[in-house]
This record gives sequence, structure tokens and C-alpha cells, in this order.
Amino acid sequence: MNGEQRMSLLIGVPREVFAGEKRVATVPEVVEKLIKLGFRVVVETGAGAAANCDDDTYRAVGAEIAERAAKLWASADIVFKVRAPSDEEVASMREGCTLISFIWPAQNPELMQKLAARKVTVLAMDALPRQLSRAQKMDALTSQAGVAGYRAVIEAANAFGRFFNGQITAAGKVPPAKVFIAGAGVAGLAAIGAAAGLGAVVRANDTRAEVADQVKSLGGEFVKVDYEEEGSGGGGYAKVMSEGFQQAQREMYAREAKQADIIITTALIPGKPAPKLITAEMVQSMKPGSVIVDMAAEQGGNCELTVPGEAVVRHGVTIVGYTDLVSRLAKQSSTLYATNLFRLTEELCKTKDGKIDVNFEDDAIRGLTVIKDGEITWPAPAPKLPAVAAKPAAAPVPVAKKAHGHGEPSGPMAAKTMAIIFGVAAVLFWLIGAYAPAAFLGHFTVFVLACFIGYMVVWNVKPALHTPLMSVTNAVSSIIAIGALVQIAPPEAGSIVRPDEVIRWFALGAIVLATINMFGGFAVTQRMLEMFRK
Ligand code: NAI
Repeated sequence: MNGEQRMSLLIGVPREVFAGEKRVATVPEVVEKLIKLGFRVVVETGAGAAANCDDDTYRAVGAEIAERAAKLWASADIVFKVRAPSDEEVASMREGCTLISFIWPAQNPELMQKLAARKVTVLAMDALPRQLSRAQKMDALTSQAGVAGYRAVIEAANAFGRFFNGQITAAGKVPPAKVFIAGAGVAGLAAIGAAAGLGAVVRANDTRAEVADQVKSLGGEFVKVDYEEEGSGGGGYAKVMSEGFQQAQREMYAREAKQADIIITTALIPGKPAPKLITAEMVQSMKPGSVIVDMAAEQGGNCELTVPGEAVVRHGVTIVGYTDLVSRLAKQSSTLYATNLFRLTEELCKTKDGKIDVNFEDDAIRGLTVIKDGEITWPAPAPKLPAVAAKPAAAPVPVAKKAHGHGEPSGPMAAKTMAIIFGVAAVLFWLIGAYAPAAFLGHFTVFVLACFIGYMVVWNVKPALHTPLMSVTNAVSSIIAIGALVQIAPPEAGSIVRPDEVIRWFALGAIVLATINMFGGFAVTQRMLEMFRK
């Protein structure tokens, strides 16, 4: 081991000790990338066994294998985990090390105190500010809920006695299964996609009407509650609805339950008990052999008859209340989680030298860091949202007195500064005009005006839109195609001036390249802008 390797930090990945947890915090494909970032990696023996990653595969990509967990905890500088650490794990932590895992600080205040006492730094994957678009690649809650939504459909299919898709066979006609999804958040949308993909007729409801388009785009039909009330509580989460709405929703759910073969419930408002949407009478009204998968089982369940962690049969309906749906697809969820952790590591190690910087200037890192060097830093202040994510103000905002910030309505600069710059520019321009040749002056004027307009345009565009702006200006720069077209034009009849053949070939090349630039640039801009639109 050379000196440089000794300097790089050691990432430790212990085996998950929570009963029934099959996931592992990193997979061999990701170990390779971590090593390329300059880190060393040690994995506890058997850590990935339940997720189809054996010790040899880790070894083959350059990880060390630790025979005992205690040794790993004692030597690792950074520990990657899935579940929050157990008391024994906390006790084995080395002072000054960094733990990255799910923590749920609001629900686990005691654990937070114990971790702080160990003088460690803790990054909680569940504390990521999800509203930052930049943070999406690190969003483990989303990646894991997506897996759970998919698995919920597979569990439903397993318990359901028929096909999902409709079929016409010699033996008879089979109607498609009718699936109703309650709650179209991350897990709900994944379930809609999976059920529609299997050929079922999918209907879905959510209190946030804005998800209707997403439901449709995944092949489902959005079913609205016949009651006018805004369901969004901000930050992409729902709010508790009025009694009137809830009554109307219950009536609608009762109608849907009678028709549905499968109901998958995912409704939840973070920090609140799961709303009871499916009553015992609704279960009773369902056809025998129907299935309910209650994803909110751990938070009390969306169905009155759910038994958390179990699949039970009530009134002839199978009610699945598994709380380990993600773990039931361990290879997939581990790979996604490991990638989320890798993306986070990239953010922590911008220098790519195997060292990390927990930079509090970075909103995403700040949000994630719940303990820094033994000091509890949770909850983090709300992140500064990029300009486009902010909702438009309902009423006109009074113009601020000072106008120095980017994109402020009163103009990019204070009038005095502007006047000075204009004055200096005018004098310079006069001097150039007095001495430079006349032909140069024309081009120079166009150049100066172009710089000025470009500056004003860029300054007034919100920072979050700078990338699409660059792309569209790149496309606009294809205006050089006009020059090329002039060059390629055939000589006029009777003209004695024959354009140089070489120039014409160059012009043809320029036209081809400019055309790619133009159409490609506009297409890419369009795609980027689509990402900012709802
Ligand atoms: P999410 O917050 O993205 O989605 C919840 C959705 O429910 C939101 O769209 C919200 O608007 C909607 N909602 C809230 N109240 C509602 C109501 N009264 N009626 C209709 N819709 C309502 O959450 P995510 O990540 O999709 O998770 C969904 C559920 O799945 C949670 O309960 C989560 O704990 C659970 N889950 C369960 C797993 C398991 O193994 N069983 C694994 C992963 C997630």
C-alpha cells in the first residue's frame, strides 16, 4: 500500500443487523466507482449475500472483506448503512467517523443523543431536502419507494387468482383486472406504472389534483373526489382535508371498492398517522378473491383491517400489510440505494482524492447533516430554493428599495453604476471612432451592441435557467448558416466571378454543422425546459 492510498479514507459497509433486512448499502458495481473516487472500501463478510452480492464479487472489484463487524467499525472512516444503527453498532463507532444511513431523527431522538455522544458526524438519507432538483440523484426515499410500489403490484399479482391483462382465448374471454391506487406519490406512481404495464385497467386517486397528469402519463385514469378543495400542503406533500372532503372521498372509495379487483393504498402525509380510507364495509363489499396491498401498514394502515407485517384474509379479500416490500427486492433496492450513496459521496468529495468535505454552504449537504462532530445540527434551515421552483406570488410584490440582486425587477444594476459605465464606454467608443478605420467601426458597433444585449438577457434570466439559455443561444449561433449559404450560392448567369470550389465545400460543411447545431440545440433546450414545467 503506497502513501497516497494510506491517506485516502476507508468506507466501511457492515452487514445489516435489523431482523429481515436483506439490503446492503453498497454493491460491487458501485464499489468500483468509489475506488475511482480515491476511497478504499471494506465490506463485512456476508453483507451482500441476501442481495445476491457475494464476498468474492466485492473482492474482485477491489474491496477488502472484514471477517468481523467490530473490526470494520473500528477502522472505517465513513460507514455506509441502510437502517439506522443499533445500540451495539453505535457503541462500536469510532470518534470522528462519519455515518451515512437512514436515521429518521424526528422519530429517534434517543438515537440522536447516543450518536452525538460518540462525537461522530451523521448524514441522514431521510433528511435530504427533496425539493432541490439537484438533490434528486441522492434521493433514497424516492428510489426505495419506487421499488416498494413496484413490489406491491407483484405481491398483489401473487395473491390474485387471475391474469392482469385481458385475454381472448379459445377457452373463453378474460377481462382485465381492475386496479385502484389510493395515493399517487412516489410509490403510488410506481405501482400505477407497474400495474398498467401488466395490462390492468388502472384508476387512481390523490388529494393533490396536480398529480392527475402524471397518473395519466403512466397509463392510469385519475378519479377525482367530487368536492372542491385544494389538497396540496406545500413542498409536494398533501394536507389533512376537511370533514366535507373526507365524506365525499369515502363515498367515492366505496364505489371504487365495489368495482376493483385489487386496491393498493399508499396515502400518507409525513409525520401523521395514515388516513383510514378503506373501511371494513368497503372490504366486505369487494368481490371474493380481491386483494388489498396496504403500503402504509407501518404507519397504522390505510385500511381498517390491515395487520402490519402480515397477509390476512378478511371477508374473502386478501389484505397484504407487508412492511418490508423494499427488502423483498433486495438486489434492485440495494443497487439504487448504493447509487444514491455514490452520488452523495461525489458531492462530498469534489476533489476526487478519497477525502470528504461536509460543506454547510451546500444546501443538500446541510439538509442531510443531522450531527456534525458530535453536535446535533438537525433540523436544518429550509434550503434556498432555485428561482424556478418558487411558486409565483399571488399578489404583486412591492419593488425592493435596493436593487442589487440577480434578476430583480428593477434592473440589473443601480442607475448610478450604469451611468458611469455608459460614460466610460462612450469616451472609449469616441476614441476608437476617431482613430480606427471606417470598416472596423461598423463591425465594432455590432459587436458592442451584441455584448450589451447578451449581458442584459443573461443577467435577467434566473440562475436555474442558465443551462437551457446556453443551449438556446448555442442554437441561435447557427445563424452562421446564412454566411455559409451566401458562400455556396452558384455564380449568377454571365458573372465572371467564379467562387472558389474549396470555399464552397467549406461552406457546405458549415451548413451541415450549423444545421445540426440549430435543430439539436432547439431540441435539447425544449427537453430541458420541459423538466422545469409541471
Ligand atoms: P409520498 O408522500 O410520495 O406519497 C403519499 C401520497 O399520498 C401523496 O401523493 C399524498 O398526496 C397522498 N395522500 C395523502 N393523504 C391522502 C388522502 N387522504 N387521500 C388520498 N391521497 C392522499 O409517499 P411514498 O414515498 O409514495 O410512500 C407511500 C407509502 O408507502 C408511505 O406510507 C410509506 O411509508 C410506504 N412505504 C411502504 C413500504 C413498505 O415496505 N410497506 C416501503 C416504502 C414506502
